[in-house]
Amino acid sequence: MQLYVTEDYRELSKKAAQVVAEQIQKKPGAIIGFATGGTPMGLYEELIGKYNQGEVDFSGITTFNLDEYVGLTREHPQSYYHFMWENLFSKVNVKKERIHFPPGIFTDAQAVCRQYEAQMDEAGGIDLQILGIGTNGHIGFNEPADTFEISTHLVDLAEETIEANARFFGDKTEVPRKAITMGVGSIMKAKSILLLASGKNKAEAVSHIYSGFVDPRVPASVLQLHPHVTLVIDKEAAQLIEEKGASTWLHSQ
Ligand code: PGA
Repeated sequence: MQLYVTEDYRELSKKAAQVVAEQIQKKPGAIIGFATGGTPMGLYEELIGKYNQGEVDFSGITTFNLDEYVGLTREHPQSYYHFMWENLFSKVNVKKERIHFPPGIFTDAQAVCRQYEAQMDEAGGIDLQILGIGTNGHIGFNEPADTFEISTHLVDLAEETIEANARFFGDKTEVPRKAITMGVGSIMKAKSILLLASGKNKAEAVSHIYSGFVDPRVPASVLQLHPHVTLVIDKEAAQLIEEKGASTWLHSQ
């Protein structure tokens, strides 16, 4: 596990963009797993900058997003499809036909989950999966539970997640109660993982990635078993790792 602790959010976004850009430069046909939320927005801005500078070409990549709210159409301003389109995809040369999302509207949840999983496998598997982390330790929408859900599935969002995401909707009652998310196994199949966390409200969740204890009640703890994880976090999010004496993990920039 490689850990980069940055001074602030801006530096975090730049470092994360460097990791993603290097993946695409190394493999122009890379399969990239994208994440939504507040944390990766700076990363996407940086990637747009790199694209405009001619440093990254997105034309060969294939994308799979982690999750989507159930009940929102692609056009809904809070759908994750819309988020990615607004914040990255419409501003770079990614090919529309290579963009994949779990659907928000469907009739047979099991069938669409199976299909999404099959699409990832057929594409050859994800080369680099970008992740945020919930204050409750969720990754994608894999919420704390007694057991891990392995593959793409329909999930009831945790109350904490609904509250955290209410800021995007204006009103908590507008936040969908369900989502389709890649499972913990889908995420762990990625060849490499880039996890971003910013702010002291993420410090507790982040510290579980170094606990030495894998626990489905803190889903991100499973990342300890992955052979190629890069954490890019700001110093506030790193507070508890350092207190727990894990500073030997630190790699300076
Ligand atoms: P955030 O969400 O980036 O908006 O904090 C992260 C997550 O819930 O995975």
